[in-house]
Amino acid sequence: MDTTIYYFTSTGNSLKIAKDLKDDLENTSIVQICKNNMNIKSETKSERIGFVFPVYFRGLPHMVKKFVENLNINVNSYCFAVASYGSNAALSFEQLNHLLTSKGAVLSRAFGIPMPGTMWSMYYPHPKEDYINRIEAQRELTREIAKEINNKTIVKLSEINNRTLEEKMYSSFQPSGEDKDFWADEKCDDCGICARICAANNIIMSNQRPQWQHQCEQCLACLHWCPKESIQYKKDSLNKERYHNPYVKVEELFQKH
Ligand SMILES: Cc1cc2nc3c(=O)[nH]c(=O)nc-3n(C[C@H](O)[C@H](O)[C@H](O)COP(=O)(O)O)c2cc1C
Repeated sequence: MDTTIYYFTSTGNSLKIAKDLKDDLENTSIVQICKNNMNIKSETKSERIGFVFPVYFRGLPHMVKKFVENLNINVNSYCFAVASYGSNAALSFEQLNHLLTSKGAVLSRAFGIPMPGTMWSMYYPHPKEDYINRIEAQRELTREIAKEINNKTIVKLSEINNRTLEEKMYSSFQPSGEDKDFWADEKCDDCGICARICAANNIIMSNQRPQWQHQCEQCLACLHWCPKESIQYKKDSLNKERYHNPYVKVEELFQKH
């Protein structure tokens, strides 16, 4: 039985989960959701199709939403999702299921894995110990999830608490001019890693500095992965610790398509 897993990631948490699922499930390929790969023309014929993504503003990252909208899916495939989050999956599974049912498919299983929260304004300061515990617990949780996927179990989606509040939060998230408050301080050495890892192709290097092009997904990859910790958001990020998943290398974030 073959499986295709589509993943979106910023700091590597979701990529680590996707890689572990690839190891735990036979005959599995993982495919990055990124600007250069938003239109897969041929039908996704795998018997199992998975989506692994972070939760943003209580729901699906916009690029994941657009990607699934464009995806030509075999309606008989077993579809599953794994959300990585700081708190909970909120609207994300329902949103994904809605997109899949509009194509005649259905989300059969949805799993969540608590990971280090990457949006410092919400989660920082976050006890380091808790980060480490979550990172270590993820491997075993993923093994358990793989067993469920192997058995193609089906479970109805849970009810959403506080729907009105969640929807209000989600609608406040609009990728566009939201990047005007990013800047690079004097530590920037023009290495261009921020531009290479931006899944939205939203950064160009100009005059030895990154410039954000107003199609930002708010994923914060640029800020968290900058090797010099030179990228800042307003003054909020000054002197704050950066995070990226310790099992993922920056090169794995470069767009492959
Ligand atoms: C812009 C942004 C918004 C986020 N919103 C939420 C949220 O609403 N709920 C939540 O539980 N986690 C939220 N998070 C935390 C991420 O979902 C979590 O850290 C995830 O594991 C990151 O995965 P990644 O490393 O694959 O990008 C948010 C993170 C970012 C950057």
